[in-house]
Amino acid sequence: MQLPKTARLVEVGPRDGLQNEQQPISVADKVQLVNDLSAAGLGYIEVGSFVSPKWVPQMAGSAEVFAQIEQRPGVTYAALTPNLKGFEAALGAGVREVAVFAAASEAFSKRNINCSIDDSLLRFEPLMAAAARHSVRVRGYISCVLGCPYEGAVDPSRVAEIAAELIGMGCYEVSLGDTIGVGTAGDTRRLIDAVSKRVPREQLAGHFHDTYGQALANIHAALLDGIAVFDSSVAGLGGCPYARGATGNVATEDVLYLLNGLGIDTGVDMQRLVSAGERICQVLGKDNGSRVARAMLARAMTSDG
Ligand code: HMG
Ligand code: MG
Repeated sequence: MQLPKTARLVEVGPRDGLQNEQQPISVADKVQLVNDLSAAGLGYIEVGSFVSPKWVPQMAGSAEVFAQIEQRPGVTYAALTPNLKGFEAALGAGVREVAVFAAASEAFSKRNINCSIDDSLLRFEPLMAAAARHSVRVRGYISCVLGCPYEGAVDPSRVAEIAAELIGMGCYEVSLGDTIGVGTAGDTRRLIDAVSKRVPREQLAGHFHDTYGQALANIHAALLDGIAVFDSSVAGLGGCPYARGATGNVATEDVLYLLNGLGIDTGVDMQRLVSAGERICQVLGKDNGSRVARAMLARAMTSDG
């Protein structure tokens, strides 16, 4: 299969990245991050979650963040919603695109959203109906598609079934999440092969975490297999509160460097993206998780001196 000419980056740093941070992060800092990311040319930003604040306290201020961000035309500002209650809160905050999330393993589903996979899909039904009434687009996620922290190996045909259910209930796209970053390029190709028998490749996205350092290889494999939408997190922020030891998503800067090198257009400006990542890392007092950002910043310092 030929490589695509363009790819779409779904920036999940403000949500998937920050949800895992224990320290308080002000609404102003979150707003700044979202505005920096849209200024860098990202066309899709997952801004926050409307989940239980007891489960993920860091996302509690998501409505305020939505109220204060600068909404640029043409940019999608999305929120994660696990149920109708979350959807209604998102709608009240003016959100026009949401994401629902299921898991490919029963144990992870229980730990993450406190119900079985089938029950989670049932819970989405009233949410999907409400979204259709309000013309809100819904994206679907499946976690643990290449392995589960509690159950180990995951059957690709089970992922395919869940993906088909999410599309069947009205999701326009399903993002396949290697939540714990264990998958290899070979696993990725087998997964896409299985899932694409049930859902067209144009409706699939890749969501790779970089725990084992395989995310870029997996993205390259997915590109060769006809996938052109990838979730990533600026500065490699994040992890998952219910997947201990999982590192952040693959860094957006690193994915952009890969795509630029392949001549695949994303519309994202590398310098501005690196600045956005550096600013939030300074707020968090953390090292930048993007190797490309670290290399570019080191080179800039050398040429300054
Ligand atoms: P539960 O305890 O089973 O729910 O949690 P419940 O319906 O029994 O409600 C319990 C309490 O939560 C009640 O409040 C509800 O009102 C409240 P109380 O009476 O105790 O005061 N509640 C809510 N509050 C705010 N917003 C809501 C909401 N729903 C209920 N939407 C629930 C079930 C799904 C709510 C909970 O398990 C939850 O919020 N989980 C969120 C977990 C989460 O956000 N995980 C991280 C995101 S997933 C991820 O990162 C993976 C991904 O990136 C893909 C990948 O990496 O592979 C997407
Ligand atoms: Mg994730």
